[in-house]
Amino acid sequence: MGSFLIVHSLLIFLLFLLSTALCNLDHTHYAKEIFQAAKREKDWLVSIRRQIHENPELKFEEHNTSALIRRELDKLGVSYSYPFAQTGIVAEIGTGSPPVVALRADMDALPLKELVEWEHKSKIDGKMHGCGHDAHTTMLLGAAKLLSQRKEKLQGTVRLLFQPGEEGGAGASHMVKEGALGVAEAIFAMHVDFTSPTGTIGSKSGPLLAAVSSFEAKIVGKGGHAAEPHQNIDPIIAVSFSILALQQLVSREIDPLSSQVLSVTYVSGGTVNNASPSYVEFGGTLRSLTTDGLHQLIHRLKEVIQGQAAVHRCTAYVSTREEEHPLLPAVVNDERLHKHVKRVGSLLLGPQNVKVDKKVMAGEDFAFYQEAIPGSMFSIGIRNEEVGSIHSPHSPYFFLDEEVLPVGAALHTALAELYLSEHL
Ligand code: NI
Repeated sequence: MGSFLIVHSLLIFLLFLLSTALCNLDHTHYAKEIFQAAKREKDWLVSIRRQIHENPELKFEEHNTSALIRRELDKLGVSYSYPFAQTGIVAEIGTGSPPVVALRADMDALPLKELVEWEHKSKIDGKMHGCGHDAHTTMLLGAAKLLSQRKEKLQGTVRLLFQPGEEGGAGASHMVKEGALGVAEAIFAMHVDFTSPTGTIGSKSGPLLAAVSSFEAKIVGKGGHAAEPHQNIDPIIAVSFSILALQQLVSREIDPLSSQVLSVTYVSGGTVNNASPSYVEFGGTLRSLTTDGLHQLIHRLKEVIQGQAAVHRCTAYVSTREEEHPLLPAVVNDERLHKHVKRVGSLLLGPQNVKVDKKVMAGEDFAFYQEAIPGSMFSIGIRNEEVGSIHSPHSPYFFLDEEVLPVGAALHTALAELYLSEHL
């Protein structure tokens, strides 16, 4: 009886080993297949990216970019809905039933003059794809092609979101409001990263990017001749005290282990040296790794400026101008989806090429999707000294290593397909 049990357990153990090995083999085979398929599309990907790069369009004006995407989707026979948030597109591939997973790319360029001299430089003066959104769009279109080639194998539905207005437009919030997520239960997105080599990614669970808001303030006093200060109410003094008092908010009121930024970035008031102005304007940026922290910081900012103005007999007007600059929530990655990114990244690129992303106090409107459903955003390396892909985004010298295009297309494809097949 005893020996029977031992043999029995041994058999079960061997079967387990065999199934794990087969499963790994299966996954390795899958990763190779996807990567090869993506590499076969490299020339096409490069040509799409160059067309978009040469014709950059600013937030909510991505009409030609959107038309190009729709043309390509038509050629692929992929169905889509349009428009969302003016120029946005949502394509769908798969069974048309749940589970539904979403992938997102942003399409807009920057008001920047490209200073890189190359054959496919921006043809529009003062506009440039200086943040890699041309690559994001291309990689998602690449995934549309690969996924449509594999549509019979998909065990659910992939929604591909081509979004306008990421740069200061909060395009994602409009996409969400207009129903772009449908019944998607998870969403992934990537952003190019010039600090990590091409062929690597970075991912992180929890807070990744800051909640961001900006403010502008006007302190009004009473202008007059500088020889008679007692006849005037000097707004310059009130602004000076306000700016100094604002420095205490992060250093004295916030837990030192949480992260916030409050920077006054401009002051403007007065034009001559013998008269006090009647008002002074100033403004800046507010950031916090938690959305609640940002709301608290805005609340205290208003109190401090109004209090300091009152002490100096002035009146203060403070605004975060949310209609033009909607407050961005913090990007907080879902633990389960982060693990999925890490695993799929390791499968495609090798575990040594999946790093831990650094937290940064920059903002991203991907946070609006994450307020609606779990999401994970990760970085994809583009650093390559040989081609000059060494400049930070928003630099007029920003230059993309196009080798990233098949890598991103393969990652998007595998993230979605494996999410669906392993969902249950
Ligand atoms: Ni960007």
